[in-house]
Amino acid sequence: MRRSKLTMQNQISILTVDDDPIITSTIKAYFNRSGYEVDIENDPVAAIERVRNGAYDIMLLDFLMSPICGDQVVEEIRKFNKDIYIVLLTGHKSMAPPVRTIRQLDIQGYYEKDERFDQLELLVESCVKSIRQMRTIREYQMDLSKAYMQTIETLRYVVETRDKETKGHSERVSGLSVGLAKEMGLPEAQVEMIRVAGLFHDIGKIGVPDAILLKNGPLNDEEFMEIKKHPAEGEKILQTYSPFKELLPIVRGHHERFDGRGYPDRLAGEDICLGARVIAVADSFDAMISNRTYRRGLGFERTIEELNRGRNTQFDESVVDALLQMIERLGREQFEEQYCAHNRHAGE
Ligand SMILES: [Fe+2]
Ligand SMILES: [Fe+2]
Repeated sequence: MRRSKLTMQNQISILTVDDDPIITSTIKAYFNRSGYEVDIENDPVAAIERVRNGAYDIMLLDFLMSPICGDQVVEEIRKFNKDIYIVLLTGHKSMAPPVRTIRQLDIQGYYEKDERFDQLELLVESCVKSIRQMRTIREYQMDLSKAYMQTIETLRYVVETRDKETKGHSERVSGLSVGLAKEMGLPEAQVEMIRVAGLFHDIGKIGVPDAILLKNGPLNDEEFMEIKKHPAEGEKILQTYSPFKELLPIVRGHHERFDGRGYPDRLAGEDICLGARVIAVADSFDAMISNRTYRRGLGFERTIEELNRGRNTQFDESVVDALLQMIERLGREQFEEQYCAHNRHAGE
């Protein structure tokens, strides 16, 4: 019993900080007996550096010290470390920091010194419990994000294999969509969503027969009907994996038009999710500027002209504006280098 407790506590390291060395060595001896690793620091300024350089889980910190007090130590440490659990120790009740200060400080516990340390040990034990929970959650999140990234890589490979004629199209649409989303100042999580949706927006095309997908020339009505299924097919494929849930309306909606004349749902305006409106512009940009086996790309000027023509009919004009703003900010040359180097001389 004792042994298992010892091994468990072993993975928790404590720093005890007090300008009175008798206190720190008493605390160290006490908590060592309970199986914790304990380091001592008697200089409050040096304590800040030790937290910066070491991997401590818990700090037992005296309040009244010189040249700086415990609250100032906490303040400094919180500038670079939000994780360490801090228990503030005080000697005399009358000298304790006001409750307001304690509330403002990001500390996990407050302890009035006593010859016996069992109360303090209870406090530390509850910190340990929280620390273990946090560690479990973090490990779980890491496993999840590893699985997520692997899934993305696998599907990316699938798309790439199928993406022969339009080589690299999905990667480029993803890249340009991210650029547009950032230009529009969208929050980071949404930008990431748009990045992944860009990679897989056409994944539904894996169900379209080669004879249609790789056809050297314009499609007849029947063939076009077949192609038009790909946004809904893509949604179907991606919905089998729950972390992709938020991608679904983006993938399903990437061929909707702002005026409601697109497919598959004929949504209009802001009923089309923003991610889909962003990808629609990047998708059309890449489709128009790229060479195909049966036709050359439109070239830069004409592509931009077409996008402008599609303002508020095919496209959300705020996305078109973001594209123009991006070109203006980067300069045409750098923009082309970054987003259409594969086709630089198309149409010239
Ligand atoms: Fe598409
Ligand atoms: Fe596409």
